[in-house]
Amino acid sequence: MFARLSITLCLLASLTSLGVLAEHIVVRDRHVTLPTAKKVQTTGMANVLKIDQSRAKGLKHKVDKAAMSRQRRAPAIEDVPITSYATQYLINVTIGNPPQPFQLQVDTGSANTWFGAGQYLAPPPSSTATGQDLDLEYGSDAVMLGSEYIDQIELAPGFTIHNQSLGLSLAAVGFQDGIDGILGVGPEVLTYATLFPNQTSFVPTVTDNAFWQGLVPEHSIGIFFAPTGSMDGVTNGEIHFGGADSSKYTGELNYVPITTTYPSSRYVGINQTITYGSSNTPILSNNAGITDTGTTLILIATDAFQAYQAATGAVADPNIGLLRLTPAQYSNLESLFFKIGDDTYELTPNAQAWPRTLNSVIGGSDDFIYLMVNDIGTPSGYGFDFINGMTFLERFYSVYDAAQNRFGIANTQFTHAVVGETN
Ligand SMILES: *[C@@H]1O[C@H](CO)[C@@H](O)[C@H](O)[C@H]1NC(C)=O
Ligand SMILES: *[C@@H]1O[C@H](CO)[C@@H](O)[C@H](O)[C@H]1NC(C)=O
Ligand SMILES: *[C@@H]1O[C@H](CO)[C@@H](O)[C@H](O)[C@H]1NC(C)=O
Ligand SMILES: *[C@@H]1O[C@H](CO)[C@@H](O)[C@H](O)[C@H]1NC(C)=O
Repeated sequence: MFARLSITLCLLASLTSLGVLAEHIVVRDRHVTLPTAKKVQTTGMANVLKIDQSRAKGLKHKVDKAAMSRQRRAPAIEDVPITSYATQYLINVTIGNPPQPFQLQVDTGSANTWFGAGQYLAPPPSSTATGQDLDLEYGSDAVMLGSEYIDQIELAPGFTIHNQSLGLSLAAVGFQDGIDGILGVGPEVLTYATLFPNQTSFVPTVTDNAFWQGLVPEHSIGIFFAPTGSMDGVTNGEIHFGGADSSKYTGELNYVPITTTYPSSRYVGINQTITYGSSNTPILSNNAGITDTGTTLILIATDAFQAYQAATGAVADPNIGLLRLTPAQYSNLESLFFKIGDDTYELTPNAQAWPRTLNSVIGGSDDFIYLMVNDIGTPSGYGFDFINGMTFLERFYSVYDAAQNRFGIANTQFTHAVVGETN
């Protein structure tokens, strides 16, 4: 028998922290006033785009180090709350005994868990050094070097994973201030070649250990994010260890196998076809890509992006890089349709747009609507032709089922919700 713990806490959405992404602006928490509105206004979202594109490039290349997935067998219901900082979803954990608190970013695009960014911490007294070092890359602009320890990590009160491989950062570059590290919940194969000197070791992830230690009945996680149009919006988000949380989605949860197309096959990768509008204008033909909580936008192959731009009539904003529409164009914007497996998921016009109530946060003008679909930077045919980032994941429930190597998706109460409209 497994304990069925259901702990759902507030998800605090802070959009001010977009400003953190501008190198020269340091913002720690959600009530911070940005130093000057203008700095953020001209650089905030452009940096998000740059960071996402750099991450896409890094994710595409780094898996070359990874070999075949190890076959492991062992025995998932645990909800852990997460906080949205608009561009990153964060979770509070404690590490070691006595427990020390850390705020980690939830990342399905990586699988190592580490802490201590920018803190120069001594290892917790309860930690045991393995003698291995860690070298993690999250795109060309974000890197972590550290040492590996084994210790306990508590993800929610009473939900403690023991004997977890944990990196203690010696140097972490490119992470948002206020983030202490990463909770890597992607496929275990992504840990291959992250350790040295014994490069070939795999590192069981927190998801693996939670299952193998009998804490949860399924080797699977469910992810629920929610969009917000409010600066101080409070809503709920959760990562559910132990399978899908049926209270968080509506209708059917449909599964597709993780794609076998490399390099997306190393990630929570899937095949999808994208069309636009009632005319079914082709945007992206059936191709492989990934879903990723560590990416903010929806990035698609350059040719698909051009097709989307042509279909919508949107133009790139010279300051922030995102596509923009006039209100008149926006009123004609149609849905994007994502065919995943046998089912089609609708990304409404509202879901394609940055919340208008928050245009000033990204340096946008009230005269325009900014779109969250952008260019991955390479043409289709690379086996890595899209990233369905958190903007996408805020409209659908998603499941990464490590046991059956499959991805689940369902609609939620937010799929068709209208968020952040000004009138
Ligand atoms: C995490 O901890 C911070 C600081 O105590 C708090 O502001 C935030 O609400 C917590 N987040 C969650 C999801 O509990
Ligand atoms: C590396 O692997 C070798 C052979 O399995 C082992 O003897 C050695 O202790 C390992 N070193 C570390 C630091 O894990
Ligand atoms: C952790 O590892 C120790 C030493 O190998 C072992 O005795 C203990 O049972 C493990 N705990 C769990 C929960 O796996
Ligand atoms: C997935 O897309 C790739 C191209 O990116 C294609 O080669 C492969 O056949 C597709 N797989 C399925 C199952 O449709």
